[in-house]
Amino acid sequence: MTQDEHPLVTKYREFSPASEALHERARKVFPGGDTRSSAHFAPYPLTITEASGCVMKDADGHEVLDFMNNFTSLVHGHARPEIVESVQKQIALGSAYGATSQNQIDLAEIITERIPSVDQMRFTSSGSEGTTMAIRCARAATGRQKIMKMEGGYHGSFELAEVSLVPMPDSRGDLSEPNSMPLDGSFPDSVLKDTVICPYNEPEMAKNLIEKHHSELAAIIVEPVLGSMGMVPATREFLQTLRDAATANGIILIFDEVISLRINYGGAQKFLGVTPDLTCLGKIIGGGLPVGGVGGRADLMQLFSPDSASPVVHASTFSGNALTMSAGLPAMQAFNEDECNRINVLADKLRDGFNQAFAQAGILGNASGIGSLTNINFSEKPLNDSRDYLDGLLVSKHIGQLLHLGMLRHGVNSASRLMFCTSTAMSDREIEKAIAALQATLDELKPFVETECPELIL
Ligand SMILES: Cc1ncc(COP(=O)(O)O)c(C=O)c1O
Repeated sequence: MTQDEHPLVTKYREFSPASEALHERARKVFPGGDTRSSAHFAPYPLTITEASGCVMKDADGHEVLDFMNNFTSLVHGHARPEIVESVQKQIALGSAYGATSQNQIDLAEIITERIPSVDQMRFTSSGSEGTTMAIRCARAATGRQKIMKMEGGYHGSFELAEVSLVPMPDSRGDLSEPNSMPLDGSFPDSVLKDTVICPYNEPEMAKNLIEKHHSELAAIIVEPVLGSMGMVPATREFLQTLRDAATANGIILIFDEVISLRINYGGAQKFLGVTPDLTCLGKIIGGGLPVGGVGGRADLMQLFSPDSASPVVHASTFSGNALTMSAGLPAMQAFNEDECNRINVLADKLRDGFNQAFAQAGILGNASGIGSLTNINFSEKPLNDSRDYLDGLLVSKHIGQLLHLGMLRHGVNSASRLMFCTSTAMSDREIEKAIAALQATLDELKPFVETECPELIL
C-alpha cells in the first residue's frame, strides 16, 4: 500500500472532492499544484473560499476552525471588522503611493513604543526582507562577513536563512559544532562557508563557538522561539549568553521576532528581559497583509539613513505601502496586553488538553510551545532544540501526516507540521472543540499506529 492509498488518506479525499478537483487544475499551472512550499501537503491542501474570525470555509462547504492563522500572522483571525473597514477606506484612497503616508508613522510609533530594542525601524514587504536587511546592516556596521545562525532556525526564503534548517541525523555533525548544511540543491558553497551553525539552547557550546569565530562574525541571528522546528522556546540563560558574548566581541545580536512577537505585548525580548541590537519583524504587524520590518538601536538603524555617509541601501517597491499600514495599525491597536494574555491562556489550555488526549489514547505525543504558539511533537523528552523535534518526527513516520488530515476532517486546521496558534477571535469554546477533534482523531488513528508505528504506543 502506498501512502496515497492509506485508508485515512482515502477518507480525506472522500471528504474534499471539490478541493481535489481544484488541485488537479492547479497542477497544470503550478509545479506540484502549489505556489508556496510551506502551504502544501499531500495529497493536496483544502481550497479555501472564505474566512471570518476563526472559521474558514472550504470548497466543499465545510467549516474548519483555523488554528494556523496563515502561519501565525493573523493574530485576530480573519476579517476582523475594524481591519476590514480601515482597509476598505484606504484602498479607495490609493494602495501604495511610493511616498510617505501618515499611517506608516502611526504604526511605527506603536512598534517602537512596545518593543524594547526598537528605537527606530524600517518597514519591509516580508519577514525575509526584514532579516536580509538586518544582516546587511550588521555586516555594514562591523565590516565582517560571517553570520552565526541556530541549527533548526528559519529566517525566510533565502539561502542563509535556511542553512541547517532540518538537521538530519546522518549529516548534522556533532552537537557542539554542527555542520553548515544546505536545505536543497540551490545553496552556493559561499553561503555555507559564511554561516556558522550554533546549537540551540546550549549556552556553553554557543560561548565556545563564538570565541572560536569571534573576529569573523558580523551577527548572531536567533529566534527566541524556534518557530519552524517544534515551537521550542529559548531559555533566558541561552539568550543572555548570546547577548553577553555578542557584546564582548563586537558582534550584532539579532532577534528574529517574526513569529515570537505575539507571545508578549513587547515581544519575546520583553518577556525574557534580554535586549538584542536589532529585531526582525513580520506577520502580525501587517494585520493580515504582506509585511516585514527591521528595527533596533538608533545608531545601527542610522546606517539606513539617507543622511549617513555610506547608507545601506534599502529599496523595495511595496515597503510601508499605505494599504498594509492601514491593516497593521488597527491590528496592533487591538492586540493590547489583555488580549495578548488572553490568547496565551487559551493556548495553555490547548496544550494541556492535547497532552491529556495523547495520554488517554495511549499514544506518544506532546504539545510544545509558549504563549499563543503550540506544536505537536513526538519526542520522548521535552524539546530542547530542533534535533529533539526532528528525531521525534522521524520515529513517528507518516503518523503526523495522518493526524493532520484527520484533524482537518474533524474541523480543525493547523499547519501540516502540526503547528497551532490561538487568535483573539477564539474563546474557550474553540479550544474545547480542538481538543475534542484531537481525541476523535486519535481514536480513529490508534489501530493504524498499533500496526504501522508501534514505537508510538505507550
Ligand atoms: C522566524 C521567521 N523569520 C522570517 C520569516 C520570513 O517571513 P516571510 O515569510 O514574511 O518572508 C518567517 C516566516 O515564516 C519566520 O517564521
